[in-house]
Amino acid sequence: MKPFYSRINFEKGLLLDYDKKVIRRISDIIPYVSDSKAAEEMAENDDKIVYEVLQRNVPQEPGHIQHSITIIKPGNIQGELFMTKGHYHGNEQSAEIYLGLRGRGLLVMQKDEQTEIIEMRKGTAAYIPPKWAHRTININADQDFVFMSFFPGDAGYDYKKLQQEGINIRIMKDGDNYKEVNI
Ligand code: F6R
Ligand code: ZN
Repeated sequence: MKPFYSRINFEKGLLLDYDKKVIRRISDIIPYVSDSKAAEEMAENDDKIVYEVLQRNVPQEPGHIQHSITIIKPGNIQGELFMTKGHYHGNEQSAEIYLGLRGRGLLVMQKDEQTEIIEMRKGTAAYIPPKWAHRTININADQDFVFMSFFPGDAGYDYKKLQQEGINIRIMKDGDNYKEVNI
């Protein structure tokens, strides 16, 4: 393949060139939220977009570096703030870097009994070591949270493992702020 580039608008926190857009709505994240019943009802009434992932097409092979931008909308489901599904990498040796571009969010990571949380904003570069599950949450009530991800071409996704073991910490709306709730 040939070299290429993408343009990022840092003012707006947007990837201007992308090959594919994945849209996740409330109906897509029902099994991942604490109150799945509330999510089902919300999805029936108004199936809002929770997040979008803008991706560049790169071969999903060792040696390549996949990169994409995630835009998480503001909102909550029965108080649980809008978030990504969260995953382990299918290839568990794969690390990842998240770079904050706009808004404010939390990066929640889990490995065995350990949980780590990094608050992210524009300019935060967070390192997710191999074997740590990761999920991001928008903690702003009125602004998107946008970050860029860089990860190995063959990282893959294991959503099922995290869904089955469950995540230990939920991020709930608390007035204009948020609170961490241990499960
Ligand atoms: C890739 C990665 C991110 C997420 C994206 C959406 O390894 O961590 O690009 O894929 O933020 O989150 P999920 O994949 O959990 O729906
Ligand atoms: Zn990942």
